[in-house]
Amino acid sequence: MLLIRRAFLPARLAVRTYATVPRDPRFAQVTPALLNQFAGVLSSPKSSILSSLTGGPWTTVEADDLATFNEDWMGKYKGKSTCVVRPKSTEELAQIMRICYDNDVAIVPQGGNTGLVGGGVPVHDEVVISLASMNRVRSFDATSGTLVCDAGCILENLDAHVGQHGYMMPLDLGAKGTCHIGGNVATNAGGLRFLRYGSLHGSVLGLEVVLPNGEILHNLGTLRKDNTGFDLKQLFIGSEGTIGIITGVSIATPRRPLATNVAVFGVPSFEAVQTTFQRTKKHCAEILSAYEFIDGETYGLVQTNPSRGVRDVFAERHPMYVLIETSGSCKAHDDEKLQGLLEELLEEGIVNDGVLAQDESQVHTLWALRESAPESYARQGKVYKYDISMPIERMYELVEHMREHYDKAGLLDKPGRPGLVKAVGGYGHVGDGNLHINIVAERYDPSIEEATVPHIYEWIRDVRGSVSAEHGLGLAKANAIGYSKEPLMVEYMQRIKSLFDPKGLLNPYKVSGSV
Ligand code: FAD
Ligand code: MLT
Ligand code: ZN
Repeated sequence: MLLIRRAFLPARLAVRTYATVPRDPRFAQVTPALLNQFAGVLSSPKSSILSSLTGGPWTTVEADDLATFNEDWMGKYKGKSTCVVRPKSTEELAQIMRICYDNDVAIVPQGGNTGLVGGGVPVHDEVVISLASMNRVRSFDATSGTLVCDAGCILENLDAHVGQHGYMMPLDLGAKGTCHIGGNVATNAGGLRFLRYGSLHGSVLGLEVVLPNGEILHNLGTLRKDNTGFDLKQLFIGSEGTIGIITGVSIATPRRPLATNVAVFGVPSFEAVQTTFQRTKKHCAEILSAYEFIDGETYGLVQTNPSRGVRDVFAERHPMYVLIETSGSCKAHDDEKLQGLLEELLEEGIVNDGVLAQDESQVHTLWALRESAPESYARQGKVYKYDISMPIERMYELVEHMREHYDKAGLLDKPGRPGLVKAVGGYGHVGDGNLHINIVAERYDPSIEEATVPHIYEWIRDVRGSVSAEHGLGLAKANAIGYSKEPLMVEYMQRIKSLFDPKGLLNPYKVSGSV
């Protein structure tokens, strides 16, 4: 609690970087004796426990073999856990949690480990609880479109599963081939279909959750309407593994549209991105399903990344690009709408050029321009990512401002003046007012961090934006919550955390500090 209050110093918030978070001495260390207790409640300890410790019926591995669990997707956060547990059922997990609770052992829940804020990896030696072995579809009701599944199911596999029945998952992310539905719920992931299908707060119907003390919350209902008391599942959506581990998800899936088309327009300015958005909403109305943007910097970087079938689809480069997706029920009608929109915008000089997909494979080629943005940045060096929501008209101003800011600080790499910051670019879900600003650096360096934080958070606060639109707070922004939420709200969040996790064992050091 104190930690939170300290973070609310009125003038300038103290934003702690992960490198400086000390290990909490209240937490016990993992020992062979503890692993033997784990082994005693698991049906298959050999396949369910990986550890660099020796001396029991688990799989002993080299410390390096645990790197995939200890390190995040960006290679920015690295923990030192000696133990990964992969329970095969909710009951097994509940028993593991009970043992950890009784022994004061700290835990980090991990899904597909695609998170971008360091939330899914240990900071020190927390036990990693991976949901990877809980990956069964429990049921699918083809009348209502309700899917019930284990939390460790991979999003893309679920999409394929419900696709057989003519349905689709209500969310889609570039990380769909690796991320778990449990991780998606825990982060309240947004993604590429948010504009059309909304937040997981709307589509998740029920959750099964194991609480830190090993109790199981059976809230895996499939009802669309249920007004009996507080809607507890909502607390776990976006809780980033800090108050319970999600083991089962019940989710409403929409019908797969009969006709999907995609267009990418090259536009002269961010103002034109906004005008095009207004016109697209008016013109395409109910068939509009995504409105994404990438800037010129991003488009250039994406072209250097040959994966995912990326191709340069324009004869010349433009300052900004927008991707528009339509999803409807009549292909001829929807194609005509998109074509009409492009002609109108070209005639009025709002867009410079445009490309319309003619078939399914071209739909993929155009989506690749946007979807490959995160990995295209990652290939250039170390990336600082800021995931922000704010009024759309201010969105691109921040990218320009940060470029100038690094230039003034002598950090921006320019001809004749080498610098650590190689590129600053932006892309994102502009239809949702969500910008992803990416800063590519030669290496993660304190001089860049100091120049960026709290400067960028103050800028966001001043435009009444959010320091995390969809990636969450994790470790990266653990103490930055105060830039977007007032102290009383944070205090109540902290009370809820204490209620579920009085010992502060679950995902410590993350989100808003430990209790
Ligand atoms: P992890 O990374 O393993 O964990 C994320 C957090 O959730 C951690 O705090 C972890 O402790 C917790 N957690 C995981 N599983 C559970 C569980 N079962 N119970 C309780 N807590 C749990 N995010 C978006 O929102 N929109 C995007 O468009 C998007 N695109 C991406 C594209 C790429 C290429 C990449 C690498 C990432 C992208 N992300 C995006 C971020 C990331 O994929 C999402 O946050 C995703 O929801 C994380 O799922 P995961 O299974 O990988 O979770
Ligand atoms: C995206 O929209 O591509 C993701 O949120 C990932 C990112 O920000 O890089
Ligand atoms: Zn995103």
